[in-house]
Amino acid sequence: MKKTLLFGVLVFSIGAVSSAVVAESTLKEFDQMTGRSYHEKLHSNNNCKACHGAQADGYPEDDTCHKCHNPDKLAQKTARSGEEVHQNPHDNLHYGKDVPCTECHGEHMAKEPLCADCHTFKYPNHKR
Ligand code: HEC
Ligand code: HEC
Ligand code: HEC
Ligand code: HEC
Repeated sequence: MKKTLLFGVLVFSIGAVSSAVVAESTLKEFDQMTGRSYHEKLHSNNNCKACHGAQADGYPEDDTCHKCHNPDKLAQKTARSGEEVHQNPHDNLHYGKDVPCTECHGEHMAKEPLCADCHTFKYPNHKR
């Protein structure tokens, strides 16, 4: 009785610790290659064209993601307030809204936001 209780507490606390450190990865293996689970429909239908055009052999064009994601709406969604107002990843101090999405979002591989090269502020909601 006592043992089971202890085990339960232990498992619970390990789960809590790991989820606080790293958010669950959205990288997933599809038949063709690794992609994001939030783009599952594109990958499971082998729709490389959605991002790559005719040939999928390099990085997509800078404005590829704009076909489906509106940069102005994104900026509103991730707006900050007070001292953090210029840390909005989609409308920030140095570059405004003009940073290619792929500087911060990887599709087939993990990626840290560009800002981490020089700053220590954190983006806990980023899907690396
Ligand atoms: C053909 C349409 C399409 C294209 C092109 C596309 N996406 Fe998406 N994306 C979606 C859909 C649909 C979702 C899931 C619904 C949502 O969260 O908006 C999504 C979700 C996302 C999410 C996760 C949102 C969350 O819930 O946190 C990110 C990040 C993202 N896309 C980034 C990108 C980037 C970067 C590109 C360009 C390389 C891109 N998308 C190209 C359709 C697209
Ligand atoms: C400077 C880094 C950076 C750039 C450039 C960037 N993002 Fe993001 N994006 C983030 C971070 C960080 C988050 C996590 C949300 C937050 O911190 O508020 C995010 C979240 C998102 C989300 C989820 C928003 C939500 O909360 O529902 C989508 C979708 C997305 N980005 C798509 C894009 C697209 C499309 C582009 C290009 C137009 C882009 N991002 C450019 C860093 C960036
Ligand atoms: C949602 C958008 C999206 C879809 C769908 C997508 N890609 Fe990509 N692809 C990217 C992005 C963004 C990069 C830049 C590197 C990265 O983020 O992984 C990339 C890079 C690549 C590269 C170059 C890798 C390098 O390091 O130079 C290849 C090859 C590639 N993709 C193949 C494919 C194939 C094959 C498919 C279909 C099975 C596909 N991609 C579907 C967004 C996409
Ligand atoms: C190449 C290095 C570099 C990169 C990359 C970079 N910054 Fe900065 N940033 C600086 C410098 C230098 C300053 C001015 C001095 C300082 O405050 O440290 C600054 C200042 C700032 C400030 C005002 C001061 C503060 O710390 O609040 C904000 C906000 C900011 N940057 C946001 C961003 C965001 C968001 C990104 C990612 C899109 C980014 N920076 C990417 C170098 C960089």
